[in-house]
Amino acid sequence: MKICIFGAGYVGLVAAACFAESGNNVIAVDVDEARVEGLKQGIVPIYEPGLKEMILRNQGEGRLSFTTDYAAAVQASLVNFIAVGTPPGEDGSADLKYVLGVAREIGRAMNGYKIIVDKSTVPVGTADRVRHAIREELDLRNADLEFDVVSNPEFLKEGAAIDDFMKPDRVVIGTDNVRTAEFMKELYEPFMRKNNRMIVMDIRSAEMSKYAANAMLATRISFMNQIAGLCECMGADVAAVREGIGSDSRIGYDFLFPGPGYGGSCFPKDVKALIRTGKECDYDFTLLKAVEEVNERQKQVLADKLIRALGSADENKPLEGRTIACWGLAFKPRTDDMREAPAITIIQSLLAAGARVRAHDPEAIDEARKIFGDAIDYSNNQYDILGDADALAIITDWNEYRNPDFDRIREALATPLIVDGRNLYKPSRMASAGFRYIPLGRNSNGMCGEAK
Ligand code: UDX
Repeated sequence: MKICIFGAGYVGLVAAACFAESGNNVIAVDVDEARVEGLKQGIVPIYEPGLKEMILRNQGEGRLSFTTDYAAAVQASLVNFIAVGTPPGEDGSADLKYVLGVAREIGRAMNGYKIIVDKSTVPVGTADRVRHAIREELDLRNADLEFDVVSNPEFLKEGAAIDDFMKPDRVVIGTDNVRTAEFMKELYEPFMRKNNRMIVMDIRSAEMSKYAANAMLATRISFMNQIAGLCECMGADVAAVREGIGSDSRIGYDFLFPGPGYGGSCFPKDVKALIRTGKECDYDFTLLKAVEEVNERQKQVLADKLIRALGSADENKPLEGRTIACWGLAFKPRTDDMREAPAITIIQSLLAAGARVRAHDPEAIDEARKIFGDAIDYSNNQYDILGDADALAIITDWNEYRNPDFDRIREALATPLIVDGRNLYKPSRMASAGFRYIPLGRNSNGMCGEAK
């Protein structure tokens, strides 16, 4: 099939590469000339395991190309995917200017029947607005051309995007037209090896499904973060509680890990957008407001623990003279993405409390530098930042942090204190290795290990 994808960002590039991989002819379009030029030369602007190789392979075999020429791309393709960004506006609602801008370009350029697919995460009702924008452009040209608009939300996770796209749990297709549903089924057929779960529904339900999925996952995380807080007060162990509840097949084990708060390009934005959608129809989404509030508070928890463990009586600068080594900056492992990363809030709080901060991350240092500049020190070696630091704070659950050289850590640190925002280690092991270990929701008053 001939496909074009507007937006050579995260979702757009992954979709373009994967559709080309299954034999389609794909043109990826972006307004950013430098980005397109780079892609033509094989420079992939984001880090995602396997993506670069897939792009280069399909480019080499002539199935994938990049351009800034909207009109030519529209005219050469039957299916036009919209995968541009929907950044949150001032009021938290998703800003549709890029989506509707692309819709207008399609309306101006199309020369025959087209299927226009919304892949960007867009609020309920956007397909109608896309249809309206295209129709207006066609009317201006006096062109009576047929087209269908489909909602096809994307559920891929950063760090596992290629796998998620090639072997999805499900593909949701929102359409009001049987012919389009058949086209979309054909397009996705090669990806149905793991699960034959292509779910066709009306457009608005498809649009809502994406938000509801992300909001539900964010809710689980905030819920677990609060359970962890309560476990600390009550002397219970959140890891045991997770086992205890996850074994109920109605609940399951996934997305029940407490942490320093959820971040990334989706959860924070989508939770906000759904609250905002509620407001627009006078519906108070109280639950999601609480999910968001809990998450904001959770981002302070690690810095608070460090201040409690190390802080002086100076209320303004309790960590003056202290050095904190941080492992992990990206919002999650296997990405360099710093968007809404809890590390931002945590490090800002540590700096505000007077601490010196040194940080390691396997991928995100360049991105972090754009945020913190020279306010913190960086290293590509996870052990180099430990020398004489007063504590090690673990912020992101990269694999390389799971089984480190504990002797080396203990010898390097000025005080053997680890504050672990990802619960990577067994408290009993840490106690016997001579650490003061403060995880989340696994001990009361930093006494972990002694009771185990
Ligand atoms: C998410 C959705 O999973 C994906 O389906 C959607 O398309 C986009 O948003 P992503 O943002 O890439 O994907 O990351 P994900 O792995 O879902 O993690 C999101 C955040 O939740 C991270 O900050 C992560 O650390 C946090 N998290 C996740 C927890 O704190 N605890 C958990 O148990 C799981």
